[in-house]
Amino acid sequence: MFYFILATLATPRNHTIDDTIGDDITGDVPTYTPSSVWNAGQDCPSCSVQPDQSLAFDQTWHAATYGPSDNTPRSIDFSFNGTAIYVFGIIANKVSGATTLTNITVVLDGKRVGSFVHTPDNTNTLKYNVLLYGSPSIPRNNHHVTLQLNGATSTSLLLFDYAIYT
Ligand SMILES: *[C@@H]1O[C@H](CO)[C@@H](O)[C@H](O)[C@H]1NC(C)=O
Repeated sequence: MFYFILATLATPRNHTIDDTIGDDITGDVPTYTPSSVWNAGQDCPSCSVQPDQSLAFDQTWHAATYGPSDNTPRSIDFSFNGTAIYVFGIIANKVSGATTLTNITVVLDGKRVGSFVHTPDNTNTLKYNVLLYGSPSIPRNNHHVTLQLNGATSTSLLLFDYAIYT
C-alpha cells in the first residue's frame, strides 16, 4: 500500500485545458481578450476557415485574427499547476479570401518564452493538433500562459484548440 501511494504520487499525469470546456480538473476556462473578437470556431458559419469539427479536440476551437488596422491586441490567457505545458492549435494554408498566416508569441509567467509562425503554403490542407508551444520541464507550481497574436505587419490568425499540462 505504501509503495502504491508513492508510485501514484510520483507518476506524472497529463490533463487538458480545452478552449471551451476548460481544465479537466478545475473547470477553469481560458480568457479571450477582447472577448468580442473571438469566435467559437465551430459555431461560426461566417468564418473563412472552416475546420472539420470532428478532428478538433472536444469538437471546439477559438478563432480570431489581428492585423495592422486593429487597435486592440488579441490574446488568450490560462493558468495551470504542473511541470510541463503543451499548447495545440489548428493551422490553415490556402483559404480563398482569408489571411491564414499564424504568428503568435507565447508568454509564460510574464516572460516571453517562444513564438510560433506558420506561413501558409499553396495547399488547402488544414493541420490539426499542431504543437504551438511546448515546454517539457518547468518547476512544479502555478503557471500562467498568455498567447498573443502578432499582427503589426501582417494579419495573423489563431485557431486555438487545447493545451495539455503535466
Ligand atoms: C503528456 O503529453 C505530452 C504532449 O502530448 C507528451 O509529450 C507527454 O509524453 C505526455 N506525458 C505524460 C506523462 O503522459
